[in-house]
Amino acid sequence: MEKMKTHYLGLELKSPVIVSSSGLTKKIKNLVEAEENGAGAIVLKSIFEEQITYESNKAIDQSHHYPEAADYIRNYSKHNTLNEYIQLIKDAKKAVNIPVIASINCVSKLEWGDYAKKIETAGADALELNMNVFPFNPNEKAQDIEEKYYKIVESVKRNTNLPIACKLSKNFTNLPYFIQQLNFRGVNSFVLFNKFFEPLIDIEKEEITTSSILSHENDLKISLRWVAILKGMMPEIEISASTGIHSANACVQQILAGANTVQICSVLYRKGISEIKPIVNGISEWMNQKSYKAIDDFRGKLSYENIEDPTVYERFQFIKHFANIE
Ligand SMILES: Cc1cc2nc3c(=O)[nH]c(=O)nc-3n(C[C@H](O)[C@H](O)[C@H](O)COP(=O)(O)O)c2cc1C
Repeated sequence: MEKMKTHYLGLELKSPVIVSSSGLTKKIKNLVEAEENGAGAIVLKSIFEEQITYESNKAIDQSHHYPEAADYIRNYSKHNTLNEYIQLIKDAKKAVNIPVIASINCVSKLEWGDYAKKIETAGADALELNMNVFPFNPNEKAQDIEEKYYKIVESVKRNTNLPIACKLSKNFTNLPYFIQQLNFRGVNSFVLFNKFFEPLIDIEKEEITTSSILSHENDLKISLRWVAILKGMMPEIEISASTGIHSANACVQQILAGANTVQICSVLYRKGISEIKPIVNGISEWMNQKSYKAIDDFRGKLSYENIEDPTVYERFQFIKHFANIE
């Protein structure tokens, strides 16, 4: 469908609907099914530096009689996991014609550039940096944490020419400033936002338990507001909206707010990969009803800079005048 075409990360996508990174995107048959059902691109499951470190530490623990083997095991585990990922990229590129975006989640700035170089060589079309440096140190300033992100991005940019997107959490004191700083360092595309593991407490057992890791339709709102604000403030950046997008309606809302693409995950866990088709068709039907001939015809129509009263995006408090409720 010509009218569904869009651009993201320097790539032409046949639809704005991207399958986001998860366990679903490490299986080749799922990638093929996603393409058949109209996905515009796929983000592969992230390769986690922490997972590599964990695997190698486990192997080292098991070989405690041979301490001299630790370095060997560490390197072997790292290369083995990286090689498996490289193979996944190569297999994905053979299996589908839509763009394949690799994803890395590293914690130390040294490793990022190295991984990125290998991923580029393997043939990925672009790279998503799944970034989260969590603030667990009360003596560390916010600025110092943000510096870590900048160092990571600089290291990746030095090592690869791949187009890069940063996938971020919503938890920054001044998100527009932070995004602008990343943009100054050569990142033009942002995935907003990632969703994280959230512990709960079982009050009967008095134990930590886990909430559902899948999102709900209501989770759309945080990202929707920030897509509209950021796209309005910085029209030159690209945003791939993520979290809580479960329907064509949600995709259209995000594109009206200014998103270049939308990413879906939980809805595919709940309903299956074939759910991409009604979502893509639903966007197309809405465009027909509204006589839009291209995605660009309505992208950003309701962003912060394009609406009469942009303060609707600025209201955070439920004061009576705006919320119409005591
Ligand atoms: C089981 C599962 C595994 C995930 N794994 C990754 C991952 O490896 N890398 C990543 O960047 N995001 C990962 N995510 C986050 C999703 O890509 C997505 O950002 C998040 O689920 C919010 O989108 P949704 O509301 O459409 O689910 C995972 C999500 C789920 C549910």
